[in-house]
Amino acid sequence: DVIEKYRTDLLVPEVMPPVRRHGRDRCDEYVIGIRQFSQQILPPDLPRTAVWGFGSATRRGTFQFPGFTIEARVDRPVQVTWINQLVDRHDRFLPPLLPVDPTLHWANPPGGIAGRDSTPTFTRTPGPYLGPVPVVVHLHGGHTRAESDGYPEAWFLPAAKDIPAGYATVGSFYDRYRASFAEQFGIQWRPGTATSRYDNDQRAATEWYHDHALGMTRQAVYSGLAGFYLLRGGEFDLPPGVLPGPAPGLGDPPGTRYYEIPIVIQDRTFHRDGSLFYPSSRAFSDTCANPANYIPNGDVPPIWVPDFFADTIVANGRTWPRLEVERRRYRLRLLNGCNARTLILKIAANPTATRPAVPALPIWLIGTDGGFLPQPQPLDEVILGGAQRVDVILDFTDVPAGTDLYLINEGPDGPFLGGVPGVDFAPADVNTTGQVMKLAVVPRTEPDRSVPPDQLRLPQFVPLGPATNTRRLSLDERISTTGCGPVAILLGTVDPDGTAVPLTWSDPVTENVALNATELWELDNRTDHAHPIHVHEVEFQIIGRGPDGNTPPSTQQHGYHDTVLALPGEITRIKAFFDLPGRYIWHCHILEHEDNEMMRPINIGPATDPTR
Ligand code: C2O
Ligand code: CU
Repeated sequence: DVIEKYRTDLLVPEVMPPVRRHGRDRCDEYVIGIRQFSQQILPPDLPRTAVWGFGSATRRGTFQFPGFTIEARVDRPVQVTWINQLVDRHDRFLPPLLPVDPTLHWANPPGGIAGRDSTPTFTRTPGPYLGPVPVVVHLHGGHTRAESDGYPEAWFLPAAKDIPAGYATVGSFYDRYRASFAEQFGIQWRPGTATSRYDNDQRAATEWYHDHALGMTRQAVYSGLAGFYLLRGGEFDLPPGVLPGPAPGLGDPPGTRYYEIPIVIQDRTFHRDGSLFYPSSRAFSDTCANPANYIPNGDVPPIWVPDFFADTIVANGRTWPRLEVERRRYRLRLLNGCNARTLILKIAANPTATRPAVPALPIWLIGTDGGFLPQPQPLDEVILGGAQRVDVILDFTDVPAGTDLYLINEGPDGPFLGGVPGVDFAPADVNTTGQVMKLAVVPRTEPDRSVPPDQLRLPQFVPLGPATNTRRLSLDERISTTGCGPVAILLGTVDPDGTAVPLTWSDPVTENVALNATELWELDNRTDHAHPIHVHEVEFQIIGRGPDGNTPPSTQQHGYHDTVLALPGEITRIKAFFDLPGRYIWHCHILEHEDNEMMRPINIGPATDPTR
């Protein structure tokens, strides 16, 4: 009944095979499927788990959770045809693995064309949705043109033969993007697919791709729909050999040693039969379990929960893995892929030490969401809100072989409020979610030629110019009138007199940004916990935080970011340059919040959608 830790080696995700390199327009072309399969996530004596994942749609048997890593080069475009293959062998659709709440404003295929997602009068039907699964993929961190950005209403169903009559098979934004592709690239989208172009005209960075379908992203990502997208090269990267490497490459012989490894950390709860558990009502996470309060009689969504903190840590698709590390330097790219959990990561000698634990090794921070920092920084710990990444160097050169070190988590088993673990809040359970990975130090097999982190010179850092417009935006929530806690989490504007104006996804666009504007956004968090706020299209700079927004950013907040932890009672000030026109979004990356209204459209340049 206890999942034994450190039984299995860290799985290093394989690299996605392209179908063509330097194809049309010299871009790399991929055809990537989304499938359901089973994987050994728990230790080998326990059952396998049914998950969803990404893999090459043209090669058999090559699907993985997390998805295969896409290796991209700066200024060389990548074209991906995403295929929704959530069907069985007979081409009949597979239902969601986890309960989807149809009372939220969501993709809603049964609503049909008339009730399409962007219509505010979406249907409110009781019971979980068990129909075909809508998907749409977003490249998180990508400087991507609007029609390729994975808009939540550009979802599409699989091309199954048993889609019920009257269902919409695509979301309301799908057709305009399909038309735009036909026009720009001469590419027709086939049913059950959507094509994206990623121009990669940005700084080298650790990006990731994941599902973004309206109102059910939390289930899709929890089921496994996430993978790394590593962008290398250009003037904001370092030449090969300076940092620890190699990273996994295509066609590596088995047993290849990697000194650069991407690691996605997630929390999951498992049923005894190995299947994923996710709550199907707030009875599991809240004291309110009375159906009388549920929609349509009350205001409580019957299935949605305000957040979920699972009891088991999974890193790269395996529970509590171990990694043998040689006495040398490693470059790790860490991603918080949890639905709601904030991670505070530290290297400790004793995994169950009283928190805050004594750090056993510095974590050399060299990069964040948007690429390299101005300088390397040795830190005791890194804080990762949902979707945030850090690029770090761990130097085991002087650690004796035979030493076991641990990557531990001192973040809370609940909402993050800011402050110090063990002082201001209870850190995660030291026996379960307080541990992530074991790092077992072994002798070096070959000389380490990478540059020691304290001597590293990182690529030049070019800050943004002055802002030409400032807007104050609010983070808020709607509380049930029946005493059942939050029923929706909201973003909104702030009036000049300081009054917050909470808005929903379907309210008219308020973030109308001029093309090529540099804007300062002041995120005014009026809720009682932190929200990782993500803005699409851009990498922003964090200008200030604190009660008045004037506290300088923390060390980890230097550099470029696409997601920032906005702490409760604080103003978080971010500055961004918006240089691609069209419809984008900004949202909280707590997936439960994003799925229930904590997401708003942004329109850049002249309005493209006359209906809003
Ligand atoms: Cu990681 Cu809008 O997403
Ligand atoms: Cu949130």
